[in-house]
Amino acid sequence: MPVNREAVIRIEVAVCIVMLSLLLADCTSVHAPVTLTFVDQGWATPAFNQERERELQEFARETGIQVKLLPSPESTREQLALWRELLRPSASGPDVYTIDVIWPGILNENFVDLKPYFASEISAGFPAITASYTIDNKLVAVPYDANIGLLYYRTDLLREYGYREPPRTWDELAPMAARIQAGERAKDRKAKKQFWGFVWQGAATEALTCNALEWQAAEGGGQIIEKDKTISVNNPDAIRAWQRAARWVGSISPPGEVGYKEWDSLNVWMAGDAAFMRNWTSAYVDGQAAGSPIRNKFDVSLLPGGKAGRVGTLGGTGLVVSRFSTHPREAVELVRYLISRDVQIRRSRLLTEAPTRPELYDLPEVREPNPRFALLSQAFRTGIVSRPSNLTGKKYEEVSNAYMQAVHSVLTGERNAPESAKALENELVRITGFKKGPPPGGSARP
Ligand code: GLC
Repeated sequence: MPVNREAVIRIEVAVCIVMLSLLLADCTSVHAPVTLTFVDQGWATPAFNQERERELQEFARETGIQVKLLPSPESTREQLALWRELLRPSASGPDVYTIDVIWPGILNENFVDLKPYFASEISAGFPAITASYTIDNKLVAVPYDANIGLLYYRTDLLREYGYREPPRTWDELAPMAARIQAGERAKDRKAKKQFWGFVWQGAATEALTCNALEWQAAEGGGQIIEKDKTISVNNPDAIRAWQRAARWVGSISPPGEVGYKEWDSLNVWMAGDAAFMRNWTSAYVDGQAAGSPIRNKFDVSLLPGGKAGRVGTLGGTGLVVSRFSTHPREAVELVRYLISRDVQIRRSRLLTEAPTRPELYDLPEVREPNPRFALLSQAFRTGIVSRPSNLTGKKYEEVSNAYMQAVHSVLTGERNAPESAKALENELVRITGFKKGPPPGGSARP
């Protein structure tokens, strides 16, 4: 039979069209790649940004899920305002957020309960850290970055001025800081004019709440509001602790200290112009960066203590999945990746970030480059003081604001400490409706 070429071509074309349309149909049934939006408070140093970028790319390679990162403002307060904006149900906001350890009670209902997804990670975690992300048995966030207030000190200067170790009490700190400050200034009056004994965070921000809580809790002055909902802040130990800090301003600390946030104190410290600094665990990496004038000239210890021990305020962030996310499954995958062993080990090495998984502290690759981590893993168990955020829930912002303003007015000399503590006590009663009383084991109210 003679072959009809035209007919063959027509059949071939028809087959191609069918195949192409099958292929296209198949393509359209495959989901477009998912892009998640992530907003992270982070300590946005170049090293941190670079590592996070690498992580998000690695995650995209492993899972096919892309992540778009949104920028975040600097202070906790501005961040909270932005998060609230982004979390309005009508807004197509981020899928994954980090939240400050003090926000679960404030933002709780916007997030998915993560307990079913992270049960094993949580049961192996630091109980006090997990507790701060848990509200009424709901795991609002998974710990991501564990932070605690620490004392940074210049090892070279301590040696030079004859001190074998950093101060163990707040009372010891002031004379040491004063002596080093005087000595450094005397060396070269012009160049060292800016040298200070101790820098910390005295601006009326959340960081002052953290600093002041450390001073007073160490002296038996309680935790502002106790676990049994007693407003305990108006007590002689807290008052004395605030008064002592007010004496630092303009003597061992700059007069501008009352306007300092974390970055301000870090800048003075990084320039080599302070003997001691109170800051978070995350401040370590910057001082050790190549070219830093204080590289290998400093170390960290627990904050100094008082008659009730040595404590640091628990800080840090947790990861949450938004209830409004249209990709909750992928969002949980991102959270799982970000808290994974490998990411935490790498971050501990490159960014000196403290792992949130206790078992990692025993690994040589974590312990050896970071000998001070032993101190942290212990502190996360026994040396933390928590802000009364879960206790006061949505009212925490108002509570903290009242507290930081009261302490700030003492630091600036606007009010005397007993007056300020009394007014604060009344204000906290008004805000929370809780009762007044002494801190556990503390001195009676004035
Ligand atoms: C740090 C802490 C956070 C705290 C904030 C105060 O970012 O991790 O918990 O609220 O400092 O400035």
